[in-house]
Amino acid sequence: MNFHIMTLFPDMIDNALSESITGRAIKNGLINIDTVNIRDFAQNKYGHVDDYTYGGGAGMLMQAEPVYLAYRSIIEKLPVEADDEDKKPRVIYMTPQGTTFTQAMAKEYSKEENLIILCGHYEGIDERVLEMIVTDNVSIGDFVLTGGELPAMMIVDAVSRLVPGVLGKEESALYESFYDGLLEYPQYTRPEVFMGKAVPEVLLSGHHKNIEKWRYEQSLERTRQRRPDLYDKYMNNKDKKTKN
Ligand code: ADE
Repeated sequence: MNFHIMTLFPDMIDNALSESITGRAIKNGLINIDTVNIRDFAQNKYGHVDDYTYGGGAGMLMQAEPVYLAYRSIIEKLPVEADDEDKKPRVIYMTPQGTTFTQAMAKEYSKEENLIILCGHYEGIDERVLEMIVTDNVSIGDFVLTGGELPAMMIVDAVSRLVPGVLGKEESALYESFYDGLLEYPQYTRPEVFMGKAVPEVLLSGHHKNIEKWRYEQSLERTRQRRPDLYDKYMNNKDKKTKN
């Protein structure tokens, strides 16, 4: 899977994603990160890509043209069909005005061959180029960051781990919590007693059925306490399933 990331700070993204599991996936050729520096498409000798906003107001806005040219440079690298209106790759614009990112969206994006992500900076980007190229406006939560790079890295991380082969068997089994809609149960490793706190007895029992039951109860209780919204959703789905 290819991620094409349009940004003013390509090193920030390349450095972070070359570590850990995404780094391993890049080395193994399972994902590819193509960072495109919007500044390379500046239309002046100073490399400026921002300007004052029409109508006044504080702050600078990224200009349409360098963003559009950066986008074209990506499309031109892809197979010719990418220029076909129906086959255009998704272009995700990272913005606090977007739909809040979820695991379901990560799953959907992981089916794409190419994903283009646009990171804004300053006060935003000229609306005209957004209207022309963006297919999905995506936020990572109701707070405002200085730019779209961290949000873009979060999307790449969440999507990459769903690409077949990126996680080892054990790793993928480990983080399934959001799949059945409950939070993960608590887990423990050695030593058996840490600063006077012992590992729950049942986990040492070797009785698989009891362990399973304990983990399920812990997951339920933890979800009820920490994420009542997810708990209600889970209970509603369960009711529906038992009725059908
Ligand atoms: N850019 C700045 N803040 C953001 C947010 N919360 N989500 C996505 N992109 C952003």
